[in-house]
Amino acid sequence: MILLDGKATAKSIRSELATQVAELTPKFGRAPGLAVILVGDDPASQVYVRNKERACAEVGIASFPHRLPAATTQEELEALIAALNADDTVDGILLQLPVPVCLDSRRCLELIHPDKDVDGFHPRNMGRLAQGLPGLQPCTPAGVIELLRRYDLPTQGKTAVVVGRSNIVGRPLSIMLSQPGRFGDATVTLCHSRTPDLPAKCREADFVFAAIGKPRFVTCDMVKDGAVVVDIGINRVDQCLVGDCDFKPLCAHAAAMTPVPGGIGPMTIAMLMKNAVQAYRKHVGAK
Ligand code: GUN
Repeated sequence: MILLDGKATAKSIRSELATQVAELTPKFGRAPGLAVILVGDDPASQVYVRNKERACAEVGIASFPHRLPAATTQEELEALIAALNADDTVDGILLQLPVPVCLDSRRCLELIHPDKDVDGFHPRNMGRLAQGLPGLQPCTPAGVIELLRRYDLPTQGKTAVVVGRSNIVGRPLSIMLSQPGRFGDATVTLCHSRTPDLPAKCREADFVFAAIGKPRFVTCDMVKDGAVVVDIGINRVDQCLVGDCDFKPLCAHAAAMTPVPGGIGPMTIAMLMKNAVQAYRKHVGAK
């Protein structure tokens, strides 16, 4: 079994981006800037945001953190987004999800200027993705495709099952896998909680992508021998991080698999850095 090492791959990507940023920064008189908004004190989000800030430092991106109290009002959050949209030193804006329930996250995500939408969640960017047009793409599914690319595991002509239909992962991933290209061109089945006989659907797949948010949901009996298994889940069980796949028993079946942690998580952050550099290039008019 090939272990798809997202941690090492993400490190290479950050290093490639750092080289690009070191060239561009003196040329355009400033570093790329990424604003990260964190509302409230969700412990998992605090860890993610810290990791994003660390990655920015490594790549040479200026990070502008905005840590807001849980009692922040919708008006205050909207005013901050408007100010960041207008700020010429900010190339990307990220609103860490989830936000406290009293805030309207959908409305806030739509207020982020599409050219600064480094998460690729704005309907304009999602629409462009669906139509195969260039734009900022959601980081987690982009990280999945990039990992397959770097290990040269093409999906072209293969069957792919995506388990989970979230706006952040499952649905955009299903779209990417169906786009033309060597790391697309798959026959995609998007499964969810209402899918009848989900194990049988998974067993037919050459590629299984697990993004359902349930610990060890994908088991041996759901994966055919020689399949590629990509685990996109992060679940906390008894103080441990476990994915959506039952990793150890699956090792005997899968041809290749991602670990959790150290798989798609670091790839997501690497793609965020890539999006920030892409947004900066467009903003400063670099080729
Ligand atoms: N929360 C969990 N995943 C993500 C992500 O990819 N982006 C943002 N902004 N929040 C998240």
